[in-house]
Amino acid sequence: MKRDLIRLSDYSGDEILGLIDSADRLKKQKGKLRADLEGKSVALVFQKPSNRTRVSFEVGVYELGGHCLYLGPDEINLGKRETTHDVAKTLSRYVHCIVARVFDNKDIVELAKYADVPVINALCDLYHPCQALADIQTIREQFGRFKGLTLAYVGDGNNVFHSLMVACVKVGINVRFAGPKGYDPNPDIVRQAREFARKSKCTIELGRDPKEAVKGANVIYADVWVSMGQEKETQKRVKEFKGYQINAALMKLAHKDYVFMHCLPAHRELEVTAEIIDGKHSVIFDQAENRLHAQKAVLLKLLK
Ligand code: CP
Ligand code: NVA
Repeated sequence: MKRDLIRLSDYSGDEILGLIDSADRLKKQKGKLRADLEGKSVALVFQKPSNRTRVSFEVGVYELGGHCLYLGPDEINLGKRETTHDVAKTLSRYVHCIVARVFDNKDIVELAKYADVPVINALCDLYHPCQALADIQTIREQFGRFKGLTLAYVGDGNNVFHSLMVACVKVGINVRFAGPKGYDPNPDIVRQAREFARKSKCTIELGRDPKEAVKGANVIYADVWVSMGQEKETQKRVKEFKGYQINAALMKLAHKDYVFMHCLPAHRELEVTAEIIDGKHSVIFDQAENRLHAQKAVLLKLLK
C-alpha cells in the first residue's frame, strides 16, 4: 500500500528516527548523484510561494536521479479549475509522487485520499512535517542526542509549531510554548502530542510567559507572527505578539549553550532581533540545508 506524509503523528518514533538517520547518511554523501529515482517524476503542486521547500525538493529529486515538475498557484488551481479528486487521479497517471503546499489541510488530505501515488505535505495551515524533520535532524547534529533536551517555542501556535511539537515529543525532546491569548496551538493536536509525550516520557508545557518558557532551554525556536494567507491580520498580530520577540535580554535566561532556530523566512526586529538570528547561537542555515537531506530521506522511504 502507498504511504503518504501528511503529518508526523502518522509516523512512529522509530520511523522518524530512521528518517533522521537516513538524512544524516545522505548529508555525508552531499553532492553525490544517485539513481534511486531513475525514471520517476515528482509533481510539486504549490498554492503558496516558497524558497526552501521548492528548491530543496527540486534539487533533492534531481540528486536522487528523478525528474521534478513545479506547478505553481496559477497552473493547477486546486479545487477551482478542477476538483481535487480529478487533480489527484490525473497526476497519478503521470507522476510517482505529489508534493503539495496548500492553504487548507482538507485539500492535502483529499489529494492523498484520491491519489494512487504518495503525497507529501509541503506545508498546510495545520502542519509542516518536512520542516520538523529537518529541525530535529539539526538538533541532533548540535547536541548529539534528543533525550533530556528542552525546546522553547515563542510565538504563534501555528503549522510549524504543531509539527515541531509532535516531532520533538516523538523523539523525546521536552517542549515549552509561550504565546499570546488567541494564538494557542490547536487543542486536538496538543492532545495527541501529549499522548506521544507520555509514551516517550517527556513533557509539553503551554503558557503565556516567554521568560518562563525559555528559562534554561537548549533550543529556542521562532517563526513569523503572520503566516502566509494571514496578511490582512498583520497590524493586529504585530501588536498582539509584542512582548514575544526573541532578543538578547530574553536569551540571558536560556541555557548558555542554547541554539536559536527559525524555519525562515524571518522578519528581523519583529519575532527575532538581527543580533540573535545573525548571532553565534543561530543555526538557521543548517536547518535550511537539512531540508534537502531530510526530504531526500522521505522520498527514498516513500518511493523506493
Ligand atoms: N521554511 C520554509 O518552508 O520555507 P519556504 O516557505 O521558503 O519554503
Ligand atoms: N508559519 C509560516 C511558515 C513558513 C515556512 C507560514 O505558514 O507562512
